[in-house]
Amino acid sequence: MTRSNGAPLRVALTKGRLEKHMTKLFSGQGVDVSALQNPGRRLILPFGPWEAVLAKAPDVITYVEHGVCELGILGKDTILEREGSFYELFDLGFGVCRFALAARMSKESFEAQHHRRVASKYPHVARQFFQKRQMDVEIIKLEGSVELAPLLGLADAIVDIVETGATLRENGLEVIEDIAPISARLIANIGAMKTRREEMNEFISLCERGSQC
Ligand code: PRP
Repeated sequence: MTRSNGAPLRVALTKGRLEKHMTKLFSGQGVDVSALQNPGRRLILPFGPWEAVLAKAPDVITYVEHGVCELGILGKDTILEREGSFYELFDLGFGVCRFALAARMSKESFEAQHHRRVASKYPHVARQFFQKRQMDVEIIKLEGSVELAPLLGLADAIVDIVETGATLRENGLEVIEDIAPISARLIANIGAMKTRREEMNEFISLCERGSQC
């Protein structure tokens, strides 16, 4: 589906840190972000001539894929885990962190385990990583604080996001291999890039300028 050309472009924005970064970026480009600065409990908010839809990261992909939002802003972590049919336009340069394999043991000891168990909130990313290495690993899906799994004896290692490294350090874990870099990305609906090209390009250029500041 693509929405009618008269309607303002809708941008699905990941709630939380990315939303705050984008509000700053837009404001720096002279866009009126007063509604975004005081959203209350509203989930669709005007900013400049556009509309922001505040959503959870995986839903940003769903809205963009289905064309109910023309554009979306989310972390590369969700893109790698969820995949989908959309254009990934560019790296906004913030929200920088990485996917890593971490454990309380060395890489050699982990690889030497007879039955390797790895906990992650990102089972798809973890599975792909081990498949590429042709390593047989049992993936255990958790919903958060995956650092608990090795501490509780549920897993030998974790595949998780590392930003400052503080959570790993404070729980006695160490990165044993980096998997992939992560940062915020701008994505677009495939149909809208054809039917609303000019408006889309205007928004994309603004994001490009803002991300270089
Ligand atoms: C993320 C991630 C790590 C932590 C890494 O968790 O899963 O636990 O941040 O950050 P650091 O390297 O700066 O310590 P988040 O806070 O999103 O919570 P969650 O574990 O419940 O998903």
